Amino acid sequence: MEKILVIHGPNLNLLGTREPSIYGRLSLAKINQMLKTQARLAKVNLVIKQSNHEGQLVDLIGQARKKKFQGILINPAAYTHTSVALRDAVAACGLSLVEVHLSNIYAREEFRHKSLISPVASGTILGFGAKSYTLGLAALLDIIRLK
Ligand code: DQA
Repeated sequence: MEKILVIHGPNLNLLGTREPSIYGRLSLAKINQMLKTQARLAKVNLVIKQSNHEGQLVDLIGQARKKKFQGILINPAAYTHTSVALRDAVAACGLSLVEVHLSNIYAREEFRHKSLISPVASGTILGFGAKSYTLGLAALLDIIRLK
């Protein structure tokens, strides 16, 4: 069975009540439940983490290969636009990685138009709300299984 690491970045623990007109009304627990159901059907093992701390996110990505994960699904949240450390961790990790965003970052403030992660990700899915995650997981599984 493949092992996939799901990483939620800063402030995503607040989903449900955080700016619902942008991020929707589903809580992070609900999104995780959707992903777990999808994983059970696809016969893949998911480990899900959330952190508000850049270094902790870097550590999670850096240790993923050693911990026998085959791929990473990540919403880097605000660090998407700022973190060279996260980008370097992604570039170094040696795993297939899909970046997801709930919102369409290109339709928002200009400072969100640049992702430091996209150039080093296998692919990016954004703008579909919680569905970005399920589409992202499906895409990641395709990449891993077609390898
Ligand atoms: C986000 C978009 C980011 O710009 C923002 O900082 C987030 C969430 C999204 O999922 O739409 O925290 O990654």
